[in-house]
Amino acid sequence: MKPEVAIVGAGYVGMPLARVFAESGKNVVLVDVNEAVVEGINRGESHIDDVPSASLGKLVGEGRVAATGDYDAVKDADAILIALPTPLSSQREPDLTILRGAVEEIASRLQKGQLVVLESTTYPGTTRECVQPILERSGLRVGDDFHLAFSPERVDPGRTDWTTRNTPKLVGGLTPACTERAAELYRSAVETVVPLSSPEAAEMTKLLENIFRAVNIALVNELAQLCERMDIDVWEVVEAAETKPFGFMSFKPGPGLGGHCIPIDPFYLTWKAREYDFYTEFIELAGKVNANMPYFCRSLISQALNHGAQKSLKGSHILVLGVAYKPDINDVRESPAEKIVQLLQKAGAAVDYHDPHVDEFDGMRSVAYTPESYDCVVIVTAHSSIDYEDLLERAEIVVDLRNATGRNGTDNGKVWKL
Ligand SMILES: NC(=O)c1ccc[n+]([C@@H]2O[C@H](COP(=O)([O-])OP(=O)(O)OC[C@H]3O[C@@H](n4cnc5c(N)ncnc54)[C@H](O)[C@@H]3O)[C@@H](O)[C@H]2O)c1
Repeated sequence: MKPEVAIVGAGYVGMPLARVFAESGKNVVLVDVNEAVVEGINRGESHIDDVPSASLGKLVGEGRVAATGDYDAVKDADAILIALPTPLSSQREPDLTILRGAVEEIASRLQKGQLVVLESTTYPGTTRECVQPILERSGLRVGDDFHLAFSPERVDPGRTDWTTRNTPKLVGGLTPACTERAAELYRSAVETVVPLSSPEAAEMTKLLENIFRAVNIALVNELAQLCERMDIDVWEVVEAAETKPFGFMSFKPGPGLGGHCIPIDPFYLTWKAREYDFYTEFIELAGKVNANMPYFCRSLISQALNHGAQKSLKGSHILVLGVAYKPDINDVRESPAEKIVQLLQKAGAAVDYHDPHVDEFDGMRSVAYTPESYDCVVIVTAHSSIDYEDLLERAEIVVDLRNATGRNGTDNGKVWKL
C-alpha cells in the first residue's frame, strides 16, 4: 500500500484522524513508537474507544490503514500529520522534546512536494520557530519545496455528536499556498474547513478554546465554594442559569480539571507570553482555583464523615467511585481522582476505588462494587452505568462531587454535595 497520509502518533488524536481519512478513501499509515499499539492496530484492535475495533478492523482488512514503528513510512506519503504529545516539564514549562525528535526523523526523510501539518496543541510560534527550521535542515525550503501548516485537533474523546468528521477544522499555513494545500487535504475527509491567515492564529485559537474552558470552570468552582458556605445548592443555580436562552454558557463545578488538554495547554501560553513581558493572569488565577478543588473536596468528605457518622477521615474506609477524568471513558490522564486519593490516604483513610472503565489506577485495582462496605462513598466521576438510586439505598454516606444523585441526593439526608 502506498500511503497518501502518514500520521505520526496513534493516540486519541491520531486514531480518529486515521479513521476519517481512510473512510474517505485515502490510504493511511500510522507511525508510532509504541510496539504494542502498532501490533494491535495491524491486528485490527483499537486501543482508543472513539475508534471501535469493528471499524478499524474493516479498514485494516481493506488495506486502508496500517501501522509501523519505522519512520521510513513517511517517505512515500503525500501528507504527514503530526499528532504527538505536547506535555509540560516538571517545572510546568512546554516540553517539545517528543515533537522535536519526531520532526528530526521526518526532516531526514522529507521529500519535495510533501505537506507537513502539526496537529498537537502548542504555543503560538511553534510551527514557524520550531518545526520549520528543523524541516529546512533537509535543504528543502518551505513554500517552494514543501508545504507546512498548523491545524489543531478539537476532538473531545467519548463525544458522538461532534467528531473529527463534522467539527470544523482550522488551518493556518506558513504561506497562502501552504494553507490552501492543507485545506484541500482536510476537505477530502472533514465537512468544514476554516482557513486562517497564519499558523500562529490557528495555534492561538486552539489555546483560546481551552483557556475559555479552564477559566469558566474555575469561575463556577469558586462559586461552588461560596455556595457551600452560604448553604445554596450550586447545581440548582447553574441549572437555573441554563434556562437563559442567550448570553450564558453552562459550566459545571467539579473536583478539579482533568484530561490531557485543559490542565496543561493554557500554561503553554503563559510561558510564551513571558517572552513578551506579559502575564496571563486569568490563566494563573484559573489554575489556582482549579488546583485547590481536591483540597476543598477533602474537607467536604471530612465534614460528611464528622456530621454524618461521627467519624474522622483517619481510620475511615472510603470508596472512590469513578477515577477516569470524565464519564464513560477510560482515560485517567491528569484525573483529579489521583490527588483526591492521595489526600485521603495522607489523612489516614483506607481508600479503594471502583471504576467500570478503569481496571488499574495509581497502583490500585478496581474493587467489586459493594458501597455498603464503606464508611463513605465519594462520587468523583459519574459514569452512566452506575445506578445512583441503588447507591443511595446501599451506602452509609455519599459525597457527590458531580451531582450524580440529583434531587434524590439533595432530599435524601445522607448525601453531601459539592
Ligand atoms: N486527547 C485529546 O482529547 C486532544 C484533543 C485535542 C488536541 N490534543 C492534542 O493532540 C496532541 C496528541 O494528543 P493525544 O491525546 O493524541 O496523545 P496520546 O498520548 O493519546 O498519543 C500520542 C501517541 O504518540 C506516540 N508517540 C510518542 N512519542 C512518539 C514518537 N517520538 N514517534 C512516534 N510516536 C510517538 C505515543 O506512543 C502515543 O500512541 C497533544 O498535543 C494534545 O494536546 C489532544
